[in-house]
Amino acid sequence: MPIKVCIPGISGKMGIEIAKLVLLDESNMTLSAGVIRDQAKTVQCIPNIDSKIITTDLDQAISNCDVCIDFTRPEYSMEIIDSCIANNKKIVIGTTGFSDDQIKIIDDASEKISILKASNMSIGINLCLKLVEQISSSIGDISDIDIIEHHHKHKVDMPSGTSLAFEDSIEKNLKSKKNIKHHCLRVGNVVGDHMVKFTLGNESIEINHRSFDRKIFAEGAVLAINWISDKDKGLYTMSDALSL
Ligand SMILES: NC(=O)c1ccc[n+]([C@@H]2O[C@H](COP(=O)([O-])OP(=O)(O)OC[C@H]3O[C@@H](n4cnc5c(N)ncnc54)[C@H](OP(=O)(O)O)[C@@H]3O)[C@@H](O)[C@H]2O)c1
Repeated sequence: MPIKVCIPGISGKMGIEIAKLVLLDESNMTLSAGVIRDQAKTVQCIPNIDSKIITTDLDQAISNCDVCIDFTRPEYSMEIIDSCIANNKKIVIGTTGFSDDQIKIIDDASEKISILKASNMSIGINLCLKLVEQISSSIGDISDIDIIEHHHKHKVDMPSGTSLAFEDSIEKNLKSKKNIKHHCLRVGNVVGDHMVKFTLGNESIEINHRSFDRKIFAEGAVLAINWISDKDKGLYTMSDALSL
């Protein structure tokens, strides 16, 4: 049976990209619902979409799916998670910018349902996170560490969720606490550039990732939907889905 996928925020930039891929992967998954904020909004740019599956009723949409995929805003993600718990549904969370309290709510929710949460779903970034962990554990304590990122001017959160994930991977692999500096640019139409730079006395090591197209996040999201569809309750990451 194909996996029934529900996309709240289907009118958003990521919602549209994910819907296109779900519709292309029809042997594996089916788009059971796309949720919009109000009926006045039309969902454009998604070829072959059946307008009957577009709804404003979040709870109804989630009750009919197998996996819900959330790329929206933190406050709406909280509503989506509540509905996934009430309907016992799995969820992939790509939304970024959560507060500590909201992260705690997600952690607690994973005791009841299956959740895969990743602030960056791209395969390349998840490989970079692994490399950064290794470098941090060998020279992190004796180097200066800078995280440099460049995003389009409409991106709301700063530092990006990906930069915070890099910081987390570094901190977990240091023996003592140190000041990791963030440098954030919000200009133009840049999809997402990240660099982690380890500087020693006379040399530096730079782990660099550049996203050319937000399709990479949608591809990762579809991989995550497939992966979580048969998993028990718990909190998972893209490292789990990619077996890194
Ligand atoms: N994990 C990753 O790999 C990754 C990659 C890219 C982006 N992201 C994150 O994903 C999120 C979405 O990014 P985006 O670029 O797609 O943003 P976007 O274009 O602004 O889309 C957001 C969508 O969420 C909907 N929404 C937001 N608040 C809502 C509410 N209170 N009630 C109902 N609908 C609501 C919006 O509806 P309206 O159109 O009605 O406002 C829109 O459809 C951001 O947090 C971004 O940082 C993550």
